Amino acid sequence: MTTRKGIVLAGGTGTRLYPITLGLSKQLLPVYDKPMIYYPLSVLMLTGIRDIALITTPQDQAQFQAMLGDGTQWGLSFTYIVQPAPEGLAQAYVLARDFLAGGPSAMVLGDNIFFGHGLPEILAEADARPTGATVFGYHVADPERYGVVAFDADGRARAIVEKPAVPPSSYAVTGLYFLDGSAPDRAAGIRPSARGELEIATLLEMYLADGLLEVQRIGRGYAWLDTGTHGSLLDAGNFVRTLAERQGMQIGSPDEIAFQQGWIDADALRARAEAFGKTGYGGYLMSLLAP
Ligand code: TTP
Repeated sequence: MTTRKGIVLAGGTGTRLYPITLGLSKQLLPVYDKPMIYYPLSVLMLTGIRDIALITTPQDQAQFQAMLGDGTQWGLSFTYIVQPAPEGLAQAYVLARDFLAGGPSAMVLGDNIFFGHGLPEILAEADARPTGATVFGYHVADPERYGVVAFDADGRARAIVEKPAVPPSSYAVTGLYFLDGSAPDRAAGIRPSARGELEIATLLEMYLADGLLEVQRIGRGYAWLDTGTHGSLLDAGNFVRTLAERQGMQIGSPDEIAFQQGWIDADALRARAEAFGKTGYGGYLMSLLAP
């Protein structure tokens, strides 16, 4: 059992999804049959993390609480933290300082979907590194939209460049960060960038400068999906639907993972399944109880 705590960063403004996100948080929108935040939350749960902070905007916090509660339905503990303004991903560590209490963390962006055979093993490896930072490099067609890894001749990371006009590689840094207990102190030393944000790339470069950054490349056998635009949100929903209908298995079900991890028992899972009545999701949860 890990002592690492989790953070789901689910603030932001979602301007690329306007007008849908004018009065609604992006991370509560559906990705096929489940709320978007179920998917990143599942990644933390697959890592074995049960103590999780949910960082939201002030105006959206009540809706997250209505949807997710205190986490006990999944054997988890949720702490709600407000980010007053979207001042950057690294600000999460400043806001979560008390919650983290000096310990290591795994932070996932609330709009990131990860899928692939062997994901739990990759997560376990990152979790097992007590010091430093582990992030994941993923080959994308449009690296200029992301934080991009520059590699040296030996394939080791030598820089992280945010949204470069000329990308030094095709490897984007995904929205999943395993950082040690020094992250809040380091983040507190970051000045806002030209776009007014505490940049995660700057925080990662601090680890890099100390020789403490591990960039693990994840291969093409994995899916790292974006949900930030209308098209990519629909694509992600179709991806989830295609796999779920073909395989008869779910991606990103906190209920299933909690049951598998032994954090909830069969009665609790049955109660959830019954609450969802005739939906496909409810039926799926019920099927997990069959011998
Ligand atoms: P982005 O996709 O960069 O920003 P956004 O979600 O506000 O969307 P848009 O670009 O359409 O305006 O953010 C990535 C994730 O990080 C997303 O889940 C929102 C979250 N986020 C915060 O919670 N706080 C922040 O300060 C920022 C910049 C992002």
